[in-house]
Parts: sequence; C-alpha cells; structure tokens
Amino acid sequence: MTSLNRRRFLSTASAASLAFAAPAIGRAGMSANDKIGVAVVGVNGRGGEHISEFLRDDRTEIRVIVDVDEAVANRRCDDIEKKQGLRPKPVSDMRQAFDDDAVDIISTATPNHWHALTGIWAMQAGKDAYIEKPVCHNVLEGTALIAASRKYGRMCQVGTQCRSSKAIIEAVAFMREGGIGEVKLARGLCYKRRKSIGAKGDYAIPATVNFDMWSGPASLTDPRCTRPNFHYDWHWQRHYGNGDLGNQGPHQTDIARWGLGIDTHPSRILGYGGRLGYQAERKDDKYVDAGDTANTEVSIYDYGDRCIVFETRGLSVDDSDDTELNTLFQSKSGNKVGVVFYGSEGYVVQDSYSHCWVYDRDMKVVKEFKGGGEHFKNFVSACQSRKVEDLAADVREGHLSAAISHLGNISFYAGESNRLAVADISAALKDFRSLDDNEATLQRTIQHLKKNGVNTDADFLSLGALLEFDPEKEQFTNNPSANAWLTREYRAPYICPTADKV
Ligand SMILES: NC(=O)c1ccc[n+]([C@@H]2O[C@H](COP(=O)([O-])OP(=O)(O)OC[C@H]3O[C@@H](n4cnc5c(N)ncnc54)[C@H](O)[C@@H]3O)[C@@H](O)[C@H]2O)c1
Repeated sequence: MTSLNRRRFLSTASAASLAFAAPAIGRAGMSANDKIGVAVVGVNGRGGEHISEFLRDDRTEIRVIVDVDEAVANRRCDDIEKKQGLRPKPVSDMRQAFDDDAVDIISTATPNHWHALTGIWAMQAGKDAYIEKPVCHNVLEGTALIAASRKYGRMCQVGTQCRSSKAIIEAVAFMREGGIGEVKLARGLCYKRRKSIGAKGDYAIPATVNFDMWSGPASLTDPRCTRPNFHYDWHWQRHYGNGDLGNQGPHQTDIARWGLGIDTHPSRILGYGGRLGYQAERKDDKYVDAGDTANTEVSIYDYGDRCIVFETRGLSVDDSDDTELNTLFQSKSGNKVGVVFYGSEGYVVQDSYSHCWVYDRDMKVVKEFKGGGEHFKNFVSACQSRKVEDLAADVREGHLSAAISHLGNISFYAGESNRLAVADISAALKDFRSLDDNEATLQRTIQHLKKNGVNTDADFLSLGALLEFDPEKEQFTNNPSANAWLTREYRAPYICPTADKV
C-alpha cells in the first residue's frame, strides 16, 4: 500500500474498530421482534432493489421509507406492506428517519449529490449506512464520509456490489497469485448506449416532488428543471450526477483498482471527449441536449508503475471495429461493460457482475470464474459483528474508486472549451506518458465516432487539462483553479462538512 491516507484513514481505523465494538443494533427503542430496523432513502429506481434485498433478509425489517416524491414513497410502502405485513412509515425528510430510534441502519439510493450528506447525517445520528455508488459527488465529500465513519464508529458500505461477487473475488486472487504474470494496465469499459435525454428547456416538476429537498446541497436552478424526464436523467447533468464515468464507472474503476492492487489516488490524469453525436442522430446542427456531461470520454490515470484507462461510449456501440476487445468480450456488437487486465502472460476480463474470463497470450480462454454475491447481507452481518474489516466495500474503498471518476471528469471540465482536431489531440497524447497505447485508443474512439455520424474533420473533441494530483493532500499541484471542482458550493442548511468538521 502506498502511503495515501494510511495515516489519515487507516490509522484511525484501529481506533474506530474499538468504537465499532459498541453495538448499535439492539439499543433501547428497538422493537420487540429483535429485528434490525431499516430506513431506505430514495426509492424510485435502485432503491427498489435495496427494498427487495432487505425484505429477503430475515434479520431486517423496513420501518421507514424516505422519498421527496410522495407518490414514489407511497407506492413503495404499499408494496412493502403486502410483502412484509408491516407498513413502513413514509417520510419526505430523511432527518425524521435519523431521529427515529426504531431505525438502526439506513441505505440510500438518492441522486449522487445527496449521497455524502445523507451518510454523514445518518452516522452522526448513530446509524450504520449503506450508500450507493459513487459514494460522493465530489472528492472532498468522500474524505468527509470516511472521517464520519471513523469518528462515530459506524459501518459504511458502498454499493459497489462486485466487491461481494465470488467470480471477481476469485479472479482478483488469481491475478494476485501471478495467474497472468505481471499486471500493470487495466482498461475499464462503459460502452453503453445512452440516448439523448431530450432538448434543454423549462419543464414542470411533478406535483408530488418537494424540489427544495430534492435539490438539497445543490443550488436551486432556474429554470427549475431543464430536462424532460425529472427522475433518473439527472445522471447526465453535472450539477447532480457525474455522467457515465461516475455512474457505471465506479463499478469498473473499483474492480480495476482492486485488481491492480492500487491503494491510492493517481498522480497524473488526462482525459478527452465530449457530448457528441446527438446532432447527427437528430439531423439538427443546433440541437442542444439537456445533458452537460460527456457521453464519449477517455480518461487516463497514471499511478507511476501502474495505469488505469477508462473509456465511456454513449453512442451506438453496435458493429464495433475494436478487434482485440471484441475477442476478449466475445461480441462485436452491443454494449460492453467491464474491465480488461493486461498481464505479461495473458488477460483477465470481467464482463458481468458474476463472471470473469482468463485468456492466454493468444487470446484463448483458459479459465472462467463464476458466481455472484450477497452485498447487502454482508453489510448487515458487519453491522452485527461491528468489525469494519468484515465489510466487503468499506467507504474508504468507495472513496478511492469514486475519486477516479471525479478526477477524470475534472480533467474534462477544465479543458472542455479546448476543442481540437484529432491531430492536435494525438500530438498532446504523445507528450503524456502512459502504459496504454494512447494513440491506438484515440484512433479506435475516432472510428467509433465516425460510425455514429460525428464530423471528425472539425475541431470537435475537447482535450482535458493534464492534471497533477497530490494523493496525500488531495489537491492539484499544477492547476490551482481545478481544486474548486474537488468540492462544491453548498446551499444552507444542506452543507456537507469537510473531514475535519464532521
Ligand atoms: N449499485 C448499482 O448497481 C446501482 C444501479 C442503479 C443505480 N445506482 C445508484 O442509485 C442512485 C439512484 O439512482 P436511480 O437511478 O434510482 O435514480 P432515480 O432518480 O430513479 O431515484 C432517486 C430517488 O431519490 C429520491 N430523492 C431525491 N432526493 C431525495 C432526498 N433528499 N431524500 C429522499 N429521497 C430523495 C427521488 O425522488 C427519487 O425517487 C444513484 O446514485 C445511482 O448511481 C446504483
């Protein structure tokens, strides 16, 4: 392990382990049936799966449902009542759940901009917390979450469920034992079709939504909702979401970092990309989509002796010319979401939540790992054991992996207006030493864009800023203005404290 935050984070873990010895489960106020009381926060999409997981664990009982959309909360409560017998209390303000003695643990699947504050408030109130990925909306929120977990002696699990997957655990162990020789490079892929979210405009907010609470730590926007679909599509607006690099990305950046045995932040970051192709798709040069995150992005992370590359493609990925990747993913068309590890003796490919392949140097399959896991049950068990080391995805892992996405996006945002022709991007990449073949990755990306009708003769691709990062101080050293993106301006009373103030 490099030194990152071993002092700052893990040295506090031993102190925290002592604190964790104090049981949270079983305090006064717990109901007579001895079950662990759960509040699920944010239940429209992914929150529904949180509910299913707690319903099938006979140690837990869902007692409170929190959603700022009253219709969503009531729909879930109706459903839970049928399955559980007991109807949970629907509330719109999460602080009511945190004040409730019948609640022992919370799990949250709100939009990203709420993750850290939800976790910190919950842990300050003495609850254990399961927080969806990315665990934070910006880097400093992640550091604050770790500090809160250690200070209040609370379990904090991140929703990177691959950490509990049998197949991936075994594949990582296989690599660590030298199964594919020396491994220095991992490529995360999010080749996942994302259609335009519609034209930017002034759209009505559903009458059942409390928009002030929905916005929370983010400023209230005017117009209030600029996307046609209120729920879910916030993922592609940076005020709330983190694009697909920060949406699907944290699963794969986590596996990549875990597999390479990296326990720190990268020291140099460079990205390029754009929100491209929707004009071609709509045959309208002036079309402005409501999203403002990149749908096409290549992010390169230099860790000195190791390297992670993450590729995001939101346009059609059918009929792709990526010969090597097509072989390793065993498909030429359709989405490709996963990680490729490049070893001196072969490859390991993770292509689903419960499946990994091992290839020799000639790209012949030599081994497979299969099997999923029980990520929520792992969390509940750790809440019972009070041992942070029992968590499959402790918050510190979630922070390091989410930060990969955030740092890549910051490089992109900092260079967004720097639109260049392909030859200029190519020249800049030559100056950026990396363990990947930067030029080959660029050319594959350009081929993909051409196939999607993007005019690649123009100055169309943004070259991100080359950022140098101090992993200990969590600050950029060569671009002070980029440090502003490591946090955000908060709106009272939804202010996420920094690590020293949790
Ligand atoms: N681990 C996984 O595989 C996985 C899969 C999908 C989504 N996710 C994560 O789950 C989260 C939610 O994504 P989604 O697609 O379900 O979004 P969504 O927009 O469909 O649902 C979010 C819900 O949160 C509610 N909400 C917003 N602010 C709230 C607040 N302050 N208090 C209570 N409720 C609030 C909204 O009203 C909505 O019902 C995201 O962070 C996403 O990254 C994880």
